[in-house]
Parts: sequence; structure tokens; C-alpha cells
Amino acid sequence: SPAQTFVSTGTLPAREAIGALVEAAYAQFREERSGRVADYIPALAEADPQAFGICVANTHGDALAVGDAGQPFSIQSVSKPFVFALVCDALGPDEAAARLGVDATGLPFNSIMAVELRADRTTNPLVNSGAIATTSLVPGASAEQRWRAVREGLSRFAGRELAFDERVYRSEAESNERNEGVAHLLRGYGRVYCDPDEATDVYTRQCSLLVTARDLAVMGATLAGGGVNPLTGQPVVSADTCRRVLAVMATAGLYERSGTWLYDVGLPGKSGVSGGIVTVSPGKGSVAVYSPPLDEAGNSVRGQLVTRYLSERLGLNLF
Ligand code: DON
Repeated sequence: SPAQTFVSTGTLPAREAIGALVEAAYAQFREERSGRVADYIPALAEADPQAFGICVANTHGDALAVGDAGQPFSIQSVSKPFVFALVCDALGPDEAAARLGVDATGLPFNSIMAVELRADRTTNPLVNSGAIATTSLVPGASAEQRWRAVREGLSRFAGRELAFDERVYRSEAESNERNEGVAHLLRGYGRVYCDPDEATDVYTRQCSLLVTARDLAVMGATLAGGGVNPLTGQPVVSADTCRRVLAVMATAGLYERSGTWLYDVGLPGKSGVSGGIVTVSPGKGSVAVYSPPLDEAGNSVRGQLVTRYLSERLGLNLF
């Protein structure tokens, strides 16, 4: 039966009501078994397909979590909007857009065609080509400095120091020909802004940072709250940067499914191949889910179901 549609009220319900809905979503989708765990990065194939965690965070610092919301996993593509936020903040939105692009590609996240089809060779910061270009623009005089800036910047979004999974990094670095190829192709067009192998290496490290669903919810709530981390009270990026990042997430956060996602759920979001997904409701908060089995586009199956369920009941849809 069709879910009751709630109209956005401008505020989230009280924390007890959010907590009850998070529990209800967990019970509703606990037995869902469809989708397949990613295996093109060998270390990701070892993920437990049953792992399942949900967290909703508001902009006041409440975080309501259930299940495996404290279980660490590599952030993968969910890192991309947050690294873009750091770069957008450093360069300003106009230069960031001119150098990286902000349009949907309509093509898979690792597409080479997406680079070739555009005359200016820019894609957007949320597909691999644009994300490697974004990482190449992180301020720093060396790869080591850029990596430190990425790690510290994403840790400020999470409100705690994020650890790094050396095993996942090595596993991806040893089978990374496609991303290396994309980086060299972009470099040939002047669209990677440092050594392409160094850019790919820092990008691969950033994808191997360890987060939990709770971290992702806090990171999303920071974007929802104009760039102020709701746990630490620390400003991470400007409110203008948040608006730009959320626009790109709405356009391209779920890859070639982004239009369908916006049509159904009406919120900016970002998914990753390890099974994390974060959705942001500006001014209100964020929903994050961890569940490794993915659909064919690379989006967590339970992540999408839970987010739709909660977004409807919390009145989060922007439209
Ligand atoms: O570059 C890659 O392929 C991975 N490190 C990240 C890809 C990813 O998470 C895309 N997600 N759907």
C-alpha cells in the first residue's frame, strides 16, 4: 500500500519520535536480502552482507542509531562530496565549477566515455574522474600534505579522528588500473591539477578512511547545518559551500540513478560501493545507512529502502 505522504514542516520531530522511527525502519528492512556485495575491490568482497546500521542526526547534535551503526567500513565514494566541500571552500564555488564541472554524466561512476563526451572534459566531483581531479586540487605542496588535509578535513566533518584501513587501500591500489587510466586521460586534457599518479593515490587513500553510519550521519548533518559540526560546534566549511555541495549531490550523488532518487526521495544523497549512503535534508539533518549489498548501479539496496522510509515519515523531501 502506498506510504502516507508527510509534508515537510521545517523542523524534525522530537528525538524520541526519531528514535522510534529508526527502530521501526530497522525492523521493517532487517530481513531484506537482495543485492550483491561489491567484489571488484578484493577486500570489499569480505564484507558481511548482513551488517546493517542506521543513524539519523539532526543539526542540534542528537544522533539516533540502531544496529551496526558503530561498525567501521571504508568510506569509498561517500568521501567525494566532503573532499569537494574542502576544495570548493578553498577555491570558491566559481573556480571549483570551472575546473571540475557540476553536471550529471548519465553514465556509470567509473566511465571513460563521460570524460570523452564533454568538450571541456569536466564531469562532476562525484564520479571517479571528477573526484580524482577534485583531490588534485586539495591545498598542499605535496601528496603527503594533500592526504593529511583530506584526512583532517573529513575528520572535522565527522567530529572525531578517522582511522585508515591499510588493507582496503592496498587491495584497491593493487587493482587500480582503471582509475590510473582515467587520471592520465584527464591529465592529457589539463584536467588533473597535479601528478596524476599522486592524485590517484591520495584519492584511493581517501576512499579507505574508516567511518561508521553514525559518522556519516554527523558528516551529513554538518552539511545540513550550514557547515557547522553539530557535535563539536566547530565550523568546517562555509554555508555557501554547503549549498553548492548539496546541489551536486542532488544532481549526481546516486550516479545514473540520481534523477530517479530525486524524483522518489527528493533529497541530495551520496552512496558508496562499500554499502554506505548518506542523505541530507538542509536545515534539518541527515540519514545514514550501512548495508553492503548493492544494486547494479552500486547503491546500497537496504540503504535506499530505509532512507525512503524515514524520509517519508520524517517529512524530509525538499519538494
Ligand atoms: O574508485 C573506486 O572505484 C572506489 N574507490 C570508490 C567507488 C565508489 O564507491 C562508487 N560507488 N558507487
